[in-house]
Amino acid sequence: MNEIIIRDIRSVDHKLVRMIEKLERRNLGREASINQWLIPVIIRYGKFIVAQKDGDDPDIVGVCELIRSYKSETCAFVHSFYIDKAYRRKGIGKKLLEEVISNLKKDGFKEIELTVDPRNKAANHLYKKFGFERIDFRKNEYGRGINRDLMKLEL
Ligand SMILES: CC(C)(COP(=O)(O)OP(=O)(O)OC[C@H]1O[C@@H](n2cnc3c(N)ncnc32)[C@H](O)[C@@H]1OP(=O)(O)O)[C@@H](O)C(=O)NCCC(=O)NCCS
Repeated sequence: MNEIIIRDIRSVDHKLVRMIEKLERRNLGREASINQWLIPVIIRYGKFIVAQKDGDDPDIVGVCELIRSYKSETCAFVHSFYIDKAYRRKGIGKKLLEEVISNLKKDGFKEIELTVDPRNKAANHLYKKFGFERIDFRKNEYGRGINRDLMKLEL
């Protein structure tokens, strides 16, 4: 496998947006995916950090979408975090999260928050490994029966 590099997407490129739409659907399902109407908004006004295979053609294998909290300007919220199915359990999630954390520290953030399905073993293991702590339970957060734990990391 080519080396995996982590980078910020800083400009809206329609080929890239289409590639991310496909990745979203494959990894998060139709309901939880964002599309061509929101991907450019997060690229331009939030932060879009990806893991990609090194090479001429950008082949994205992992995505982290971030927004800044309106309630606390030192808090960043992870809207989505995933590694493409074919590339899981190879340490890419750890590599991406490590970069995301150091990137946000450099940007002056003091807290990162995210929500996770309490039954999601892989994600809970990863977040706890990096020091995230459960600070709340949000029942029906994304619809009836779709509960989430609110996790927080102090930087
Ligand atoms: C959660 C996710 C991002 C992990 O990415 P990954 O690249 O497979 O993770 P890594 O290979 O870096 O492994 C990270 C740690 O999690 C563990 N892990 C990974 N998958 C696991 C699984 N299915 N069950 C238990 N532990 C798991 C690894 O063993 C590793 O821990 P270790 O260092 O203590 O051995 C990936 O499974 C994913 O994209 N899932 C679907 C989307 C999702 O659930 N996103 C989170 C939403 S909040």
